[in-house]
Amino acid sequence: MTVQGCEIRTLAGLSPTDRADAARLFWAAFRGKLGRLLGPDAQALVLLERAMRPDHALVVVAPGGRVVGVAGFRSPVGSFLALEWRHLRAVYGRFGGVWRSAALHWMGRDVDNARFLVDGLAVAEGWRGRGLGSALIEALAAEARARGYARLRLDVADQNDRARALYERLGFDPAGHQRLGLAAPLFGMSGSTVMERRL
Ligand SMILES: CC(C)(COP(=O)(O)OP(=O)(O)OC[C@H]1O[C@@H](n2cnc3c(N)ncnc32)[C@H](O)[C@@H]1OP(=O)(O)O)[C@@H](O)C(=O)NCCC(=O)NCCS
Repeated sequence: MTVQGCEIRTLAGLSPTDRADAARLFWAAFRGKLGRLLGPDAQALVLLERAMRPDHALVVVAPGGRVVGVAGFRSPVGSFLALEWRHLRAVYGRFGGVWRSAALHWMGRDVDNARFLVDGLAVAEGWRGRGLGSALIEALAAEARARGYARLRLDVADQNDRARALYERLGFDPAGHQRLGLAAPLFGMSGSTVMERRL
């Protein structure tokens, strides 16, 4: 699939450089939300590169070959970001791994049998507002349909009004809310809205 001269394809099969680009792009987009949990930057990038499953991500490749957009998803066999204990311990040490692992558990890493789950969506800053994010959502919808799902689900942070407006325009409706409670300051948000779209 192509959009604006860019190609949308799976990250699987792309080079380690492309995977590093995808990790950097993801971190630049989510650093504000995940910085306290996964920072400092250098360690976060090592973690993301270790934990990323390329077969669980679609990416936008720009005409020069650079990865400028990434959309992860979860399936019954795994998720784009497999933030498992072994990766956390390897990157942050035993103590640093323990509290991060507990916080991630609190945040919830559920897999939904009825809905195809989006596991992170980001477009590089200079490439936003050109329809790439929308195209990634449509590509995820096509992937979900091909896997037999009837609905697509994503979670949007309470403060992310622009992303929420985009999802509403693309046919998503609110389907619940998750509060972070005591973990809210760690993530810099009070909670997130679950949104879903019929396929
Ligand atoms: C949300 C995001 C993936 C959209 O990608 P995109 O390629 O800009 O999306 P499109 O061009 O298809 O649509 C543009 C719309 O996206 C929405 N949007 C949300 N955040 C935006 C941002 N930081 N910059 C530009 N548009 C943004 C707006 O509604 C915009 O429409 P508008 O200009 O009329 O307000 C991208 O902005 C991004 O990576 N943001 C940071 C990470 C993030 O918030 N991800 C979503 C988590 S649920």
